[in-house]
Amino acid sequence: MKIFVTGATGFVGSAIVDELRNRGHDIVGLARSESSANALSDAGLNVHRGNIADPESVTSALSQVDAVIHTAFNHDFSRYLENCEADGRLLDALARALEGTDKALIATSVTIVTPSGELSTENDRALDQVPRSASEAFLDYANRGVQTSVVRLPPSVHGAGDTAFVPALIALARKRGVSAYVDDGANRWPAVHRDDAARLFCDAVERPRPAARYHAVAETGLPFREIAEAIGDGLGVPAESVPNDWAEVHFGWLAMFAAIDNPVSNDWTREATGWASREVGLISDMRNAGYFSTPSD
Ligand SMILES: NC(=O)c1ccc[n+]([C@@H]2O[C@H](COP(=O)([O-])OP(=O)(O)OC[C@H]3O[C@@H](n4cnc5c(N)ncnc54)[C@H](OP(=O)(O)O)[C@@H]3O)[C@@H](O)[C@H]2O)c1
Repeated sequence: MKIFVTGATGFVGSAIVDELRNRGHDIVGLARSESSANALSDAGLNVHRGNIADPESVTSALSQVDAVIHTAFNHDFSRYLENCEADGRLLDALARALEGTDKALIATSVTIVTPSGELSTENDRALDQVPRSASEAFLDYANRGVQTSVVRLPPSVHGAGDTAFVPALIALARKRGVSAYVDDGANRWPAVHRDDAARLFCDAVERPRPAARYHAVAETGLPFREIAEAIGDGLGVPAESVPNDWAEVHFGWLAMFAAIDNPVSNDWTREATGWASREVGLISDMRNAGYFSTPSD
């Protein structure tokens, strides 16, 4: 198949591209800049120039492809709500342009769209009040001739080259001289290795299941305290509790994520697709995948 991948230069998207190529697919990668375009063409990929902030510049790629995997996202968390809404608008434009074609449109969502504090499943619809639920509204186009589905990713998609929440927590612990958790740190974070996640995106695009919500989760829920302790060990700083009232002062924009309790089941995903995790878990990956190299390394 010829597959259009947005975010092809990113941490998750580049792993998907590698896996798709291993499976013999042709890739068209979205690039918003000269440097991203050069990186993709140097890697031997077809390039489509466009920007997710301008849906038409992205939908103009669709006539030349058989399927779409959308992973690009603006991660400026100071404008998180706007960025989630923009993702919803882009997905709506993509789905509308694919209406009646029966082509697959696989998008990226997050496990934290599901209710917190209880084991969530693929049957749980995204909660309207969670901003990233905007990335799932397009699923309804399954009734209009588009093979829509989402892959929900956990707060830690880990592996060498990770630049997301765990590196942000490490940078914060390095700056503060303490690796913190909220209250008793029993709140749970699910996790997946990026290569495991990439295989699930590929399975989803090869055998579409309309309106499916996949959970790319290898570990159901690690107590956040264990993650904080691994960070403390890695940096040689103490792991300590901060009371919930102080979480925002200590963690800043990360506070909401540090406190979240998000245990996630993936029974349906495994049964439907045969997918299973093959890679190491988060704690041992943190020890071995370069997470504690100093910033100048
Ligand atoms: N990594 C995680 O731990 C994690 C966890 C949960 C969910 N997710 C989700 O997984 C998806 C992929 O995340 P990631 O970690 O791979 O992100 P990433 O490494 O930050 O990559 C983001 C990708 O989006 C592209 N992009 C950003 N703004 C763009 C724009 N305006 N126009 C076109 N392309 C643009 C970037 O292209 P450039 O090369 O031009 O910068 C890059 O390819 C996102 O939806 C993210 O929210 C990730």
